[in-house]
Amino acid sequence: MKELWTMIKTCQQSVLFVLLLGAATLSTTESAFAGSGARNPRTSDTDKNGRSAFKRDKPSNLVLLQMLFRHGDRSPMHFFPWDKHQSFWPQGPAQLTQIGMQQAYHYGKELRQKYNNFLSKDYNRSEVEVQSTDKDRTLMTAQCLLAGLFPANFTWPLSPWQPIPVHTQLNSQNHLFAHAPCPELDLLNKQYESSEPSMKFTSKYQPVYNKMSNLTHTEVNRDNAGQIADMLFCESQHNLSRPQWMTDDMFHQLMSLRDEKYTLHFKAAGTPRLSGGPMLAEMIKNMEERAKDPASTKKVFLFSAHDSNIAMLGRALGIFNNLQPPYVTSITLELHQQEGNFFVTTLFNNHTTGAPFKENITGCATACPLQQFHDLLRGNMLSAADRPAACTVAESSHAVTKTVLPILAVALIVVVVVFLLYRLKRTRQTAHGRESNFQYRQLLQPLSDSEDDDDHIDEL
Ligand SMILES: *[C@@H]1O[C@H](CO)[C@@H](O)[C@H](O)[C@H]1NC(C)=O
Ligand SMILES: *[C@@H]1O[C@H](CO)[C@@H](O)[C@H](O)[C@H]1NC(C)=O
Ligand SMILES: *[C@@H]1O[C@H](CO)[C@@H](O)[C@H](O)[C@H]1NC(C)=O
Ligand SMILES: *[C@@H]1O[C@H](CO)[C@@H](O)[C@H](O)[C@H]1NC(C)=O
Ligand SMILES: *[C@@H]1O[C@H](CO)[C@@H](O)[C@H](O)[C@H]1NC(C)=O
Ligand SMILES: *[C@@H]1O[C@H](CO)[C@@H](O)[C@H](O)[C@H]1NC(C)=O
Repeated sequence: MKELWTMIKTCQQSVLFVLLLGAATLSTTESAFAGSGARNPRTSDTDKNGRSAFKRDKPSNLVLLQMLFRHGDRSPMHFFPWDKHQSFWPQGPAQLTQIGMQQAYHYGKELRQKYNNFLSKDYNRSEVEVQSTDKDRTLMTAQCLLAGLFPANFTWPLSPWQPIPVHTQLNSQNHLFAHAPCPELDLLNKQYESSEPSMKFTSKYQPVYNKMSNLTHTEVNRDNAGQIADMLFCESQHNLSRPQWMTDDMFHQLMSLRDEKYTLHFKAAGTPRLSGGPMLAEMIKNMEERAKDPASTKKVFLFSAHDSNIAMLGRALGIFNNLQPPYVTSITLELHQQEGNFFVTTLFNNHTTGAPFKENITGCATACPLQQFHDLLRGNMLSAADRPAACTVAESSHAVTKTVLPILAVALIVVVVVFLLYRLKRTRQTAHGRESNFQYRQLLQPLSDSEDDDDHIDEL
């Protein structure tokens, strides 16, 4: 069972890329709509508002391709002192591995096959724009994917590779990927941490924290258990051995902790508008500009980012499956034109099946009229211009803060004083007595944190 599970996890990307390569030979338009039609009568008619619906028997053209994708396989975000494998990762934590490079490259090649009729033969800067978060692993993933998507059509020492620009912004200014600060979002997340489902999660896994604390002689708690699980997951992807004391049972518990923590966080983290809203608004803006005047915009937009960005956009679109997206998972919005009407198709590709999942926006057909797409999702859109205001903590919360904070401060001081007095007394009583349980405290912190990541789950 364990072998099977590990094998599936490990092999799924590489094997499925090969399968997908074979499967993705249909033309773009065909593959976007193949197999979804006959069951839904509305697709071949006008809808109840008299708007044109997509006609499956008529040809259509892809006019704009936008894709957000997660980086490839990476090293663990954190290392722990008891782990033997730290030297296995030559570039340190949170870095794209050679496996990750290949995943991205192969996905680029697969996309070249799938969209070959739509993409120009050569890279053309007037047609393609690539943006990435300002992290090593996403910048590198974008480059690898582009190498597969746009091989050079000329010969030089690095053929078939050619340089293609990948744009980025300082995280502190990056509203699009929700990396720029957003106090309101932070506040909502903080509030959620003390909610009932969140507390339940913590206590559910308390026995695991206890057992692991005992075995590693370090404190394992809700916060770092996820990091440990991440480290073990990354190592399992590379077939590295587990610590001897870690039973299969404990490993599986940690893996389900990892999944559950993710689900819990992204089901509730902030609001879809505050988190995924900017990316959604950007993509809709690009589609509307393209529909209005094809000459005014590029025809391919690629966004290289994190699982959190997939989760956030997925939530904003109402298609998120609540699972941590595997490496190089993507969400694609295709804009199709048919007889002067524009339709959006939403694809989710987590490389689990031979073709991406066609997702339906609630209330719309798979090929959703652009205007209806906009209307249905309006509430989740957040323009770059509106984000600063939306991210400002609301007055009412300020009021709460103003009254509650002083009370908390006084209470805290009282508690600290009482505690210190108590400790003083205890220390005197047990002056040379029992050994300290706390000598391992210095090992509590993860060993390294080379990036500017706060180790928030968002940044995976
Ligand atoms: C690049 O794309 C633009 C816009 O589609 C087009 O006008 C131009 O001819 C293309 N350049 C080349 C060299 O194909
Ligand atoms: C490069 O592009 C030109 C013109 O688009 C085409 O004729 C030629 O076959 C291409 N060469 C390669 C190696 O793809
Ligand atoms: C911790 O280890 C000790 C000694 O091996 C054992 O008696 C105790 O039950 C363990 N505690 C937990 C929570 O596993
Ligand atoms: C891990 O082991 C599996 C099964 O033996 C193998 O297929 C896979 O290529 C290995 N992965 C790595 C990264 O070595
Ligand atoms: C991929 O997505 C599908 C559809 O949401 C889901 O059923 C499947 O479990 C996902 N696979 C992984 C590995 O997340
Ligand atoms: C999505 O909509 C299509 C029609 O466009 C329909 O055939 C299909 O059953 C829907 N899928 C789901 C999961 O609702």
